Amino acid sequence: MKIDVIAIFPEILEMALHVGILKRAIDRDLLEVHLHNLRNFAEGNRRTVDDYPYGGESGMILKPEPLFAAVRSLEPTEVTRVIFLTPQGKPFNQRIAEELSLETHLVLICGRYKGIDQRVREKLITDEISIGDYVLSGGEVPALVLIDAIGRVLPSALGDYESAQNDSFSRELLDHPHYTRPAEFEGMKVPDILLSGHHQKITDWKRDRSLEKTAEQRPDLLHKFKNNEVLD
Ligand SMILES: C[S@@+](CC[C@H](N)C(=O)[O-])C[C@H]1O[C@@H](n2cnc3c(N)ncnc32)[C@H](O)[C@@H]1O
Repeated sequence: MKIDVIAIFPEILEMALHVGILKRAIDRDLLEVHLHNLRNFAEGNRRTVDDYPYGGESGMILKPEPLFAAVRSLEPTEVTRVIFLTPQGKPFNQRIAEELSLETHLVLICGRYKGIDQRVREKLITDEISIGDYVLSGGEVPALVLIDAIGRVLPSALGDYESAQNDSFSRELLDHPHYTRPAEFEGMKVPDILLSGHHQKITDWKRDRSLEKTAEQRPDLLHKFKNNEVLD
């Protein structure tokens, strides 16, 4: 999968691509991420990417010309999804990460200031995605959130150290508690059942703890889950 990111501060994403699962996915050619600085597509000595909004409001808007030039330079095809990160978008979740992980080419557009010129949204954007009901100063962090979530569900991206199985939301439930050695730490013991070697009882314990945690923190997820089955 290839992901192109267009941003005025692409360096915000740089470091995350050199560590962990993303680095491994890139090293194994499962993922290609290209960061593009929007200023490189702006005209004039000052490479201006923003301008005042029509209508007299305060704040600045990313101009259409550099964004059109940047997207066109990537030679998008019919299968390219051009995603604008915006708090007005569809709320991002694990299902969307899994769905996007099946695509071959994504272009992520990061806004700044008050946002981007509406004509870009009307002409170029295929999807609008939000990472939550709050407003950040730019789309770079949301783009990284998408890349990380998509990168870890790419087939074979996870190594021995991680597993997506039973991750929160993979079955509409939150993950169960985890313990590692030592079996006792400062008087706190690992639950006996996990040391018992009894596989069925351990599986049941994990499912029960997942259900408990979900009921406590995210009861809204429970209606989709009944008797270990995810309801459509
Ligand atoms: C200050 S915000 C602009 C907010 C915009 N005026 C609005 O109210 O919808 C600047 C940029 O940050 C990004 N952004 C901020 N919050 C976001 C969120 N929750 N999800 C995705 N992108 C976000 C978007 O790219 C946005 O264009």
